[in-house]
Amino acid sequence: MKSLTIRNLAKTYFDPFAGSQVTAIRDISLTVDAGDFVSVVGPSGCGKTTMLNMIAGFLPATGGQIQVDGRAVSGPGPDRGVVFQSFALFPWRTVLDNVAFGPKMRGMPKARRHEIAREYLALAGLSHAAERYPNELSGGMQQRVGVVRALANEPDVLLMDEPFASVDAQTRMTLQEELTRIWQDRRPTVLFITHDVAEAVFLANRVVVLSKGTVLSDVPVPLARPRAWSSLIEDDHFKALSAQVLQLVRST
Ligand SMILES: Nc1ncnc2c1ncn2[C@@H]1O[C@H](COP(=O)(O)OP(=O)(O)O)[C@@H](O)[C@H]1O
Ligand SMILES: [Mg+2]
Repeated sequence: MKSLTIRNLAKTYFDPFAGSQVTAIRDISLTVDAGDFVSVVGPSGCGKTTMLNMIAGFLPATGGQIQVDGRAVSGPGPDRGVVFQSFALFPWRTVLDNVAFGPKMRGMPKARRHEIAREYLALAGLSHAAERYPNELSGGMQQRVGVVRALANEPDVLLMDEPFASVDAQTRMTLQEELTRIWQDRRPTVLFITHDVAEAVFLANRVVVLSKGTVLSDVPVPLARPRAWSSLIEDDHFKALSAQVLQLVRST
């Protein structure tokens, strides 16, 4: 697995209505160690999605550097997998073929890519859905397939932008527990963006709080793993950490 390093990242957009530049990212420096899980929280508009799009290579930076294991990022690449809040699975492909799509693009033979896809579907408890089509699945299950599809590419760095924001609260908790389990099993380097403080703390080893395009605080989360909501919801340490992060977010 590989580390992710961001140094003095900056981004300004041209606002055609105002006829001037707006600063989305002022100055962000941040390192995610290889195999670590870091959450990023901050209020709407603080630059989270802009930062993720630059790390993914979808958007050029105005300033600063982004490196994966010391190599500069200059565009999208298979070393970084991305999961958004809403994304489209291919409606005409089965779940299995959706998940196998990335390996296919990398030229992997059919038998092998199906083997990998089945392995990741099993990891997420989705084996029974392999032959189904996306429109036969609930929203929560589609989102789960989206996460599995990103994982099946075995990216060094997994970038997630509010991937569970549009599913109901119960399903979201299940997905969060699943993600921590899969992360512990495979240990990809994860940068997880959310505006949900409890989600950020539940998932991560560190929570980075953003404010107006810069890092306000970096809070370690030394909670034991595996993590389960049934125990953490009553856990004093979890509650104290969540309160601390919430206060930081509200101070912005
Ligand atoms: N394509 C764009 N053009 C102009 N301004 C943008 C664009 N995308 C985002 N912004 C502005 O950049 C800031 C950060 O947005 P964004 O990265 O989406 O924040 P977040 O994901 O934290 O809600 C906001 O002020 C937003 O209005
Ligand atoms: Mg966003």
